[in-house]
Amino acid sequence: MKITLTHLLGLEGVSKQDITTILDTADTFKNVLKRPIPKVPTMKGKTIVNLFFEPSTRTRFSFELAEKRLSADTVNFSASSSSVLKGETLKDTIKNIEAMRIDFVVMRHGAPGSAKYLSECVNASVINAGDGAHEHPTQGLLDMMTIREKVGRIEGLNVTIIGDIKHSRVARSNIHGLISMGAHVGVCGPATLLPRDIRELGVTVYPSLEDALADSDVINVLRIQLERQKGGQFPSLREYRTLFGITGERLQHAKKGITVLHPGPMNRGVEIDSDVADGNASVILDQVTNGLAVRMAVLYLLAGGRSKMEGDSNAQ
Ligand code: CP
Repeated sequence: MKITLTHLLGLEGVSKQDITTILDTADTFKNVLKRPIPKVPTMKGKTIVNLFFEPSTRTRFSFELAEKRLSADTVNFSASSSSVLKGETLKDTIKNIEAMRIDFVVMRHGAPGSAKYLSECVNASVINAGDGAHEHPTQGLLDMMTIREKVGRIEGLNVTIIGDIKHSRVARSNIHGLISMGAHVGVCGPATLLPRDIRELGVTVYPSLEDALADSDVINVLRIQLERQKGGQFPSLREYRTLFGITGERLQHAKKGITVLHPGPMNRGVEIDSDVADGNASVILDQVTNGLAVRMAVLYLLAGGRSKMEGDSNAQ
């Protein structure tokens, strides 16, 4: 099975079939990564530029590693050491890089819509590694892979996203992806950090964390973006923790068998306590492991690869 996408700009509008194909292919690549030599020649001869205008640990490292595991040639670009500092525009930057004949651009940028804009400027295939508060599609995919792996399915689950929904690209990608896959998605957080029109996306808004925890098979705990506090959008970290922090004590009253995700980086002791983050319900490090397999799958499928489902041994 092939996917119908030429770029991965977000999960909004991506079909259940395409998401399933990506997750199935990621499962296959996860097995490749367990081999003594965890590398395949699938993308030999392809050139990929990793263009990061914002900080990243997990996403950047796992894209770089995924590209190496697929035998692609890679170039890493960091805005802090480039001619962007001399005033060069995004379009000129990428046009110059593209003149060196690249096949893929992986980009993280602070401006919502920047990945789409880039896809309209270049012939290369564009993968959005996070564009402002808009989307972070590979994070949504790795979250879904982790849920499917832990629980065995996505369809019919109650998945609640907790925290700063308004400024979160992770929340938007999760909402779009999970709804396409048939999950019931909830959100819970301070009223100032929930978009006014959030219900239009088809989610349930939980009035209290206790209600959310009692109902949820899975919770995805978002990082509190500390800079938002300066804007007065929540009173104090202490109050946030009191109302919305995921503590071991709170988890004891949650739905039996609840699974806890967090995209990282975590503020331990604020949105999540260490006994939860490092406890049995947590799949936070599984998310990181799965991120590598998901990014290999996305690159492979965007390059025209087929999932193993139709018996193409190239995926193995
Ligand atoms: N989850 C995530 O995007 O982490 P990084 O910012 O470290 O890439």
